[in-house]
Amino acid sequence: MQLDDLAGGTAVVTGAGSGIGAAAARRAAALGMNVVLADVSADRIDAVAAELTGVKVLAVPTDVRDAAAVDALADVVYDEFGSVTVLLNNAGLESLGYTWEVPADEWRRVIDVNLLGVFHGIRSFVPRMGADPRPSHIVNTCSVGGIAITPRMTAYAASKHGVQALTESVYLECAEAFPQITVSVFSPGQVATRIFEDAPVQERTAADAGFWRDQIREGMTPGEAAKLLFDGIARDEFWILTHPEAFERLASKRARTLGERLRPDALFDGRN
Ligand SMILES: NC(=O)c1ccc[n+]([C@@H]2O[C@H](COP(=O)([O-])OP(=O)(O)OC[C@H]3O[C@@H](n4cnc5c(N)ncnc54)[C@H](O)[C@@H]3O)[C@@H](O)[C@H]2O)c1
Repeated sequence: MQLDDLAGGTAVVTGAGSGIGAAAARRAAALGMNVVLADVSADRIDAVAAELTGVKVLAVPTDVRDAAAVDALADVVYDEFGSVTVLLNNAGLESLGYTWEVPADEWRRVIDVNLLGVFHGIRSFVPRMGADPRPSHIVNTCSVGGIAITPRMTAYAASKHGVQALTESVYLECAEAFPQITVSVFSPGQVATRIFEDAPVQERTAADAGFWRDQIREGMTPGEAAKLLFDGIARDEFWILTHPEAFERLASKRARTLGERLRPDALFDGRN
């Protein structure tokens, strides 16, 4: 498919109030798609919606942790637009700290948003996308952290490894049940967003928080990441990457660790 073929379709983006999600919404609008902005922060999506012109835009405050809220989002989208061309399950957050020091509620919140939020998007939208014979795409935002081992970012790593496994499994399920739905994983490396500004930090890992904030500040812009994302969708890629070299380095470490049954520290060279 060509990028031009997306014009007139509908894109649904979770976590659309900031960073990669907001940039994806802008990119979708620039490609002529109607855009549905979903985020737990109504103020953020209202601000993004106000920027978008020339296409239909709907801002639907949605907490992706809540299965009923995501069902309600799908109801509103199908009432308004009747079909979905691209679903981007993207909402996510970070958390830093030694596993035993992170409050249980915070750990749960990371898994609820990053992993169950994606599951909720799949369960609410796939049956309706599957009932429509036209081609459509589901993209789950994972991370290079979905194939890396990252101490002191364990809840995030666990959630993203989960998103990776979920996405590959759902790819196979859709190929079987609804072959018109293409499923992809979007695995960004460092993209300059507010994700670490919003992350709660434990006292003993304040240095990590500073390190990661500085690292991603130097990263790719969300606009560049969103462009690569839609280019990947148009090419029907399963793996949509922003930093292929970092992905390959981490993937080969993972493959060696598993294949040679190495201990976690055998190839560990710092933070992941
Ligand atoms: N920025 C990076 O370097 C990077 C790298 C790899 C993966 N990612 C992933 O990209 C995705 C987007 O992150 P970002 O960097 O743009 O962060 P961001 O903090 O700029 O944006 C995330 C958005 O998700 C929203 N959100 C949080 N909880 C939510 C909930 N319960 N329901 C709905 N929305 C919720 C936030 O309000 C925010 O607007 C995340 O899944 C993240 O893990 C980011």
